[in-house]
Amino acid sequence: MENSCFDSAIMKKSVELAEEHRSYLHTIPEKAFEEYQTTAYIRKVCEEYPVEIIDIGMETGLVCWLDAGMEDTIALRTDIDAVPTEHGPHHFCGHDAHTATLLGAMHYLCTINDILCGKGKSLPHNVLFIFQPAEEGTRGARAMLDHGILNKIPMRPSRIFGIHNRPEVDCGDIIVHRGPLMSEKSVFEIKLTGRPGHGSLPHKNIDPIVAAGTLICSMQTIVSRNIDPFQPAICTINSVTGGKPDNSAPETAVLTGYIRSFSHETHKHMEERLRSLAEGIAEAYQCRCEVEITPMVPAVVNTDEMYEPAYRAAVAAVGEDHVKDSPPSLASEDFAVWGTKIPSFFYWVGSGTPGKDSAPWHDPAFCVDPHYTEVSVPLLCAAVIC
Ligand code: NI
Repeated sequence: MENSCFDSAIMKKSVELAEEHRSYLHTIPEKAFEEYQTTAYIRKVCEEYPVEIIDIGMETGLVCWLDAGMEDTIALRTDIDAVPTEHGPHHFCGHDAHTATLLGAMHYLCTINDILCGKGKSLPHNVLFIFQPAEEGTRGARAMLDHGILNKIPMRPSRIFGIHNRPEVDCGDIIVHRGPLMSEKSVFEIKLTGRPGHGSLPHKNIDPIVAAGTLICSMQTIVSRNIDPFQPAICTINSVTGGKPDNSAPETAVLTGYIRSFSHETHKHMEERLRSLAEGIAEAYQCRCEVEITPMVPAVVNTDEMYEPAYRAAVAAVGEDHVKDSPPSLASEDFAVWGTKIPSFFYWVGSGTPGKDSAPWHDPAFCVDPHYTEVSVPLLCAAVIC
């Protein structure tokens, strides 16, 4: 590392260790809330360092605290779970590289703090390391908060930083984006109930399949006709279930899907429109209708207040030429839930191999460039030190 913020020999060692952790973690992918081996491995590594492991009463995930004797604490959060697939869980989102990054940063920060202590000094902040389970499905951050993490740690952090790899961005670059970065998401289920009966007597039946077809088409007007074209938004159907391949009208048809947006106001408006279209169309087609909308996560928003320190840390990690901006994404990330409690900043760290077309998140061909941790470890350290 060229930057004077870092001790280059200790950083080199921290990155080497992160690489070892990543190689191992890659071999034990586990799905949300079942990250038992992963948690055991993280615990074993944390026990090698002068950090306090804090039990928040969860079976997976881990929280630990580096006490630098300071009045202020910065939290660093990683996700630890793998992507569930038909063939079992796989690290197709790179959370193994994220976990390895945080373990590498722990090595660096603990080592530097020890050296500083020897000189009667310390790191500028205490550090809370959060190894969060279940990012896939966006339930892990909420679970940690529900388990009272903020009441069980020695000090509430003044800021929290998180990272995610980004295969579309060259490894070596860091995306520091101001404003909304990832979307608010809610999921919905719409159940249309008609009157089942023989297919030869359509006038005696109430067929929910036809109502479902109309609703699917009408819903497309929510984004195209009800939402400001300058507000990114998605309202999509993910599954349609109803009926069997025989000659009867079924009793029910069920549609599921999700709504995504950056603006909460837009989100609420889409939910209202969805409900009103479903109820109106159901009534017009003589069906009954139940609409269930479940909020999943708020939007990840990088505030102006957090932008400056976050930018400074990125420059310290890779130099100004490699700190970039990019358009946001309508994918969601439950780091947003931390942001509802603690001032937060979320980085994307380039993980694509320069000159190559890298597979996107969750693609079976997904992989993280081998030099990724050379950027991600210094970045998290810089968020604490620089
Ligand atoms: Ni991910």
